[in-house]
Amino acid sequence: MAYCGRSLDSPCTLALLIGFQFAFVLYFSLGGFRGLVSVLVHTTEPEFDYSRPHDVYTNLSHLGVPPPPPPRNILSPFLWPVGPVSVHLSSPLSLEEIRQRNPLVLPGGRYRPPDCEPRHHTAIVVPYRNRQSHLRALLYHLHPFLQRQQIHYSIYIVQQWGNSTFNRAKLLNVGVREALRDEDWSCIFLHDVDLLPENDHNTYTCHKQFPTHLSVAMDKFRYRLPYSQYFGGVSAVTPDQYMKMNGFPNQYWGWGGEDDDIAARVRLSGMKIVRPPVAIGHYKMIKHKGDRGNEQNPRRFDLLKRTRLNWRSDGLNSLTYELLSKELEPLYTNLTVNIGEDPHLALGRAPIPVKATTPAHRRKDERWAIQSCPHGGSKQTVKMRQHI
Ligand SMILES: *[C@@H]1O[C@H](CO)[C@@H](O)[C@H](O)[C@H]1NC(C)=O
Ligand SMILES: *[C@@H]1O[C@H](CO)[C@@H](O)[C@H](O)[C@H]1NC(C)=O
Ligand SMILES: *[C@@H]1O[C@H](CO)[C@@H](O)[C@H](O)[C@H]1NC(C)=O
Repeated sequence: MAYCGRSLDSPCTLALLIGFQFAFVLYFSLGGFRGLVSVLVHTTEPEFDYSRPHDVYTNLSHLGVPPPPPPRNILSPFLWPVGPVSVHLSSPLSLEEIRQRNPLVLPGGRYRPPDCEPRHHTAIVVPYRNRQSHLRALLYHLHPFLQRQQIHYSIYIVQQWGNSTFNRAKLLNVGVREALRDEDWSCIFLHDVDLLPENDHNTYTCHKQFPTHLSVAMDKFRYRLPYSQYFGGVSAVTPDQYMKMNGFPNQYWGWGGEDDDIAARVRLSGMKIVRPPVAIGHYKMIKHKGDRGNEQNPRRFDLLKRTRLNWRSDGLNSLTYELLSKELEPLYTNLTVNIGEDPHLALGRAPIPVKATTPAHRRKDERWAIQSCPHGGSKQTVKMRQHI
């Protein structure tokens, strides 16, 4: 049986390799440092025309049909990547309509390429609460997107039960653990429900050594990385990498901070973050108002100061939760979990309002954020980040 899926882990690696080889030859033929730099700059960053995207379902029905001979290094023997794909943010189809458009997806939101042995086995874990229309938009987009890449995958929605403050990182821990009970996944994606990838060269696979951050260029941040240690949105780890950093923190109740804590864990456990090129890592975010029950976490900066002390004791090894139900829906696996109560949320009282930060506190926040992004990340991007 033929193998499918990309043999190289990221198109970035290939582009870099070719780029360096090219540059090396040209360095001697053209001479001069300037020549080398301009060649490097032009060859490492692939270019895409995002003004003319393809439908993400383009030629999807060709899967399983004998293909024309594929060009070298193309991801699947049956379907060539189209590059930019269009993203539909408004009025997503019903779940039944999405199911009809994805006839090869099995209960639980699973898919396995029918005609080849997949190289990649990826679980997509989505922390979730009360975002039905976002979920439909994600499923409509992600199923064909992943099938185009011919990977073996499954989509897990981890739904926080109850009314306590939302805890994204703890839900991710639960999702990773439950997904690994099902199958020996080689890669786990940590995926926000409101982010849709815009380029099918952005492969949903893992780097062998290091955690990957995929959503490097979001429309919300004007298609730039907001700061160099940014790890939020969409990222990926192998089970080994996940163990090495003791998973994710369990103590971040409410919006913000947990992604920076995870980035710090990556560093503290001796790893680094790898990313696809900006031109490939394009994402669109579904616009929405702040969620009830996911107010800004006023303790996030204090928690972040203690990551260095806490990461070995708070994480995968201290995770407790109760799995209330696991349902194999046609397009996703629904895990409903009780992850406990936010200890800072007094029972029966209103959650801490978003605008509770004092001006002094806000100044401190900005100072912290600026210090954390020495390479780029202007004051403007810092402000954007605080008002998401
Ligand atoms: C879709 O398939 C047709 C027929 O094989 C082919 O001519 C066309 O180029 C494909 N479109 C894309 C965008 O790959
Ligand atoms: C959550 O709040 C709603 C409305 O206030 C209430 O009906 C429901 O019972 C609460 N759920 C839990 C698990 O406390
Ligand atoms: C997941 O399952 C729970 C429990 O049956 C249910 O209340 C909830 O609506 C389901 N969520 C989704 C997104 O299907």
